[in-house]
Amino acid sequence: MELFLDTAILDEIKRGAETGLISGATTNPSLAAKAGKDYNDVLKEICSIIKGPVSAETVSPDADGMVKEGVEFSKIAKNIIIKVPMTVEGMKACQKLTKKNIKVNVTLCFSANQALLAAKSGAFIVSPFVGRLDDIGEVGMDLIKDIRLIYNNYKFTTQILVASVRNPIHVLDAAKIGADIATMPYSVFEQLFKHTLTDVGIKKFLEDWEKVPKKR
Ligand code: E4P
Repeated sequence: MELFLDTAILDEIKRGAETGLISGATTNPSLAAKAGKDYNDVLKEICSIIKGPVSAETVSPDADGMVKEGVEFSKIAKNIIIKVPMTVEGMKACQKLTKKNIKVNVTLCFSANQALLAAKSGAFIVSPFVGRLDDIGEVGMDLIKDIRLIYNNYKFTTQILVASVRNPIHVLDAAKIGADIATMPYSVFEQLFKHTLTDVGIKKFLEDWEKVPKKR
């Protein structure tokens, strides 16, 4: 499973890239607002650091507007992927952009039927939001299981990107189900490295190392 960072903050992108474990990034208008810089400039910088897919989100309500925005975003770098929402207009835009060889990430997916429509529209990536489903009392990961089953049944190549990840358990469950990608805040990525027993083990080994006789 690929690990993406869900952020537009360049310092987090740089730190993630330095680990050699991050292969893409996702952004959205809310994350762009947090970054507090021109969106196109931020995307350009992210693409100079991360060579894998970097998602840029459109905001137009209609397909033509989304396509126009998508075409402009795609000029920023080769690895830009265009995010369109899971709406009728979004699916029209997905088909049009895909025909132009511009890759699309269908975002705001909350049901397996929506994911089916995204795949049939030629989406490169579909983004089911697990955290937001959990927030309203549904089980977000059940949606990932359903989408995996449907995509396997029909050999759809659309990649399942688990979005709205809130904690390491979401990452673990996504991997167990066989999602293609999980995108996460930098704080969750950092948590993946940590285990109390690792820290205790390092401390003990260093203490014992001091007791090992050394020639010099
Ligand atoms: C990523 O592509 C999504 O926009 C993001 O994961 C949404 O996360 P949130 O539900 O925490 O806003």
